[in-house]
Amino acid sequence: MLESWDEIIKRRRQYDCWDLSKELPLETVQEILYEAHTFAAKKQNEPHMEIMAISYDDPKLRDALWNYSTFWERNQTTTNGQTLANYLIVFITKHHHRTPINYIHIGIHSDFIAHAAAARGLQTGFCKCTDDDLTDDQKNYIKQQLNIDSLGNIVLMMGLGYGLENESMIHPITGEIVKCVSRSETEKDYDLETPPDQYIKFF
Ligand SMILES: Cc1cc2nc3c(=O)[nH]c(=O)nc-3n(C[C@H](O)[C@H](O)[C@H](O)COP(=O)(O)O)c2cc1C
Repeated sequence: MLESWDEIIKRRRQYDCWDLSKELPLETVQEILYEAHTFAAKKQNEPHMEIMAISYDDPKLRDALWNYSTFWERNQTTTNGQTLANYLIVFITKHHHRTPINYIHIGIHSDFIAHAAAARGLQTGFCKCTDDDLTDDQKNYIKQQLNIDSLGNIVLMMGLGYGLENESMIHPITGEIVKCVSRSETEKDYDLETPPDQYIKFF
């Protein structure tokens, strides 16, 4: 039993490059999300968040969310390829006073989903990088489609699909070449910079 757990945790890695030629059936996505619904821990058995699974059936929404996943560093922008996955899972809180419990639930459920995906030979990519330098049309479209008041209601996004270890992929809507960085970076990250004894204590 522990052997299979060991296999699953090693299989789960961060991906930002995807094979979109393979169709990820909606039923598989539903199975993973309902598994999280049934088995992931929930305070007082309430979800405390919303989860949206978005296919490419709404390319305008997917492209707007891809643009939203932009990260600024040293006057350079990087857009996170995680959002180009076969499906994009968006974790939302509509709680006006965002309490830690919303964030805790999103953390628990996103990790559950990442491992449920790995157990099925699928890959995931977390994305917390966002920049709301979007057109008004894109902002309004995201808000309308996700039924949210503000882009700030989106706490976390996660790509789910058939991961590739390539250096680039083609953005399926715009046709642009998108650089993929996660796999090469995370190979190095396997040895974390912070050693465990600096943040895990035994008494
Ligand atoms: C909550 C959360 C948010 C993250 N956000 C991003 C992100 O915005 N962009 C990114 O490239 N990676 C993001 N990551 C992925 C981490 O960089 C990645 O997990 C780390 O490099 C370790 O690699 P591994 O997941 O393959 O072990 C995020 C991870 C977590 C848990």
